[in-house]
Amino acid sequence: MDTTLTLANVLFVVIAVLLPLLLWKSQRKQFGRLPPGPALNPLLGNLLQFDVKEPYKFYLKLSEKYGSVVTIWLANTPVVIISGYEALKETMIGLGEEFSGRDNYPLIMKATLGYGVLSTSGHRWKEMRKFSLMTLKNFGMGRRSIEERIRKEAEYLVEMMKKFEGSAISPADMLSNAVTNVICSIVFGHRFEFEDPQFKFLLQTVNTYFRILSSPLGQLYNVFPKLISLFPGKHHQLFKDLEEAREYFKREAQARMNNGDPSCPQDFIEAFVLKMKEEKDKPDTEYHFDNLVSLLWNLFSAGTETTSSTLRHSLLLMMKHPDVQERVQKEIDEVVGQDRWPSIEDRQRLPYTDAVIHDVQRSMDLAPIAIPHKTMCDTEYNGYVIPKGTMVIPLLSSVLIDPKLWKNPNCFDPENFLDGDGRFKKNDAFVVFSMGKRVCLGEALARTELFLFFTSLLQHFTFKAMVPPEELDTTPTNCSFSRIPRTYECYAIPRI
Ligand code: HEM
Repeated sequence: MDTTLTLANVLFVVIAVLLPLLLWKSQRKQFGRLPPGPALNPLLGNLLQFDVKEPYKFYLKLSEKYGSVVTIWLANTPVVIISGYEALKETMIGLGEEFSGRDNYPLIMKATLGYGVLSTSGHRWKEMRKFSLMTLKNFGMGRRSIEERIRKEAEYLVEMMKKFEGSAISPADMLSNAVTNVICSIVFGHRFEFEDPQFKFLLQTVNTYFRILSSPLGQLYNVFPKLISLFPGKHHQLFKDLEEAREYFKREAQARMNNGDPSCPQDFIEAFVLKMKEEKDKPDTEYHFDNLVSLLWNLFSAGTETTSSTLRHSLLLMMKHPDVQERVQKEIDEVVGQDRWPSIEDRQRLPYTDAVIHDVQRSMDLAPIAIPHKTMCDTEYNGYVIPKGTMVIPLLSSVLIDPKLWKNPNCFDPENFLDGDGRFKKNDAFVVFSMGKRVCLGEALARTELFLFFTSLLQHFTFKAMVPPEELDTTPTNCSFSRIPRTYECYAIPRI
C-alpha cells in the first residue's frame, strides 16, 4: 500500500471530520446547560432533520419526545423551543423581561433595518411599544371611535359584495382592502379608494412579504441570507418594493413635518412627528425617521394580512359547515335584527357567534411559532441555562391543540368555547395573540375588527362554496412562519 496515500487519507479524516467536531465541542461548551434535543450533525446541526415547509410540526414532534424545553441547532446556532401552556406561562410571563428580546430574523430585519417595534429589543422596543400602544388607544383602539371606522369599512365591504348580486366572487382582495383601510385611517388619517395605486401597491407588498416569509424560500433566507441573496428569485423584487414602501412612508412623514399643525395630531404619523419635534434636541432620542418608517411598516405588515386572512378563513369554514353558518345567522337575526349594523356591545349577547370566531382563530393557528423571541440575559429555567441572545420559539401551536385544554382540539368546533348552557366560556389557553410582554400589540383592534366584519357579513350574506362542502379543502397553503389560509371563489348570496 502507498504509505503517502494512507497518511494523506488520515490527514483528510482529521481535517474533514475531527477538526469540525473539536471546534463544535469547544463552541458548544460556551453555550452552558442548554435544554436537551435531538442528535445533531457537527457541521449542520439539525438542519438535515428540519422541515422547511412546516417547521412547527417538527417542533411539535420534538416537544413530545424531549419535553417542554428543547434545543435544536440551525448549523452552529442554538434555538430553544418552548411548548405547553405551563412552560409558556412560566417563561413568557413569569420570566417576561428575560424572554422579551426579539431575534434578528433576516427577512424581518430586511424590512425594518432594526428599527420600529416588532424587530427591536431593550430600550428602543420599550419606547416604541409604549408610544404605539398609547397612540393606538388615543386614536380609538379598544374604544367606540374605532368601532365607527370599522363599521364604515364594513358598510363599504357589504356594498361592494352586493354589487355581484350572488354571482361568484373572490373575497380575498375585498377583505384585505377593508382591513387595510382601517389601519390607513389610523396611520394616515384617511381611507383610500380601492383603486388608488399607492393603496394597491401597499396591499400587494404586504401580501408578497407574508407569502415569502411563510414559504420555504423565506425559511432558507432566514438561515442563509447571504447565500440566498446570490440566487435569483421573488425575494429580489420584494426587497425593491420594501424600499419603495419605506420611501412612501418617509414622504408622508416629511409632508406632515413641513405643513401640519402637530399640536393636535390627527393621525399616527402626526403624533410621532410631534414627538420628534419635542425631542429634537435630545441626542439619543428614539423619535426619528428610521423608527417611524419601520413602525409604520410593522403596523401594516402585522395588522393587515393577519386579520384579513383570518376573515377569509372564517368564511371558508362557514361554507364547510353550513349548519354553523345558519346558527350564527339565526343568533344575529334574533339579537341584532336586520335594520341596524352589529355593534361591539352585541358581543355578549351573541355567545355562539363569539365562540365561532374564537374557534376559527384557535383551529387555524395562524402564527404557530409566534414571532421568535430572544433571551435578554443568561436565563435559568427548569435547571437549564439559556445564554443571552439565544433565539427562543414560543410554540403557540402546542397550546392550541393540546387535548388536555380543549374539548375537540383537532378540528374547528365552536363547542370548545361554550359551556353546557350555551354560554361563552373563556379559556386562558387561547394564545393566538401570544402571551407576556410581547403579546400582539394590535390584539384589541384585531378582535374588534374580526367581530364587526364577520357579523356584518353574515348578517347580509349567506356564503356558499362552488363545490359541495365535503370537497372543500380548508388546510392552509403556506405553513412555515405563518399558516396562510387558502384563497378561493365563492357565492355571497344577499339575505337583506
Ligand atoms: C388576527 C389578527 C392577529 C393575530 C393572530 C396576531 C398575532 C400576533 C402574534 C402571535 C404576535 C407575536 C407575539 C410574540 O412575539 O410573542 C404579534 C405581534 C404583533 N402584532 Fe399582532 N396579530 C394580529 C393582528 C394585529 C393587528 C391588527 C396589529 C396592528 C395594529 C398587530 C400588530 C402587532 C405588532 C406591532 C406586533 C409586535 C409586538 C412586539 O414585538 O412587541 N397585530 N401578533
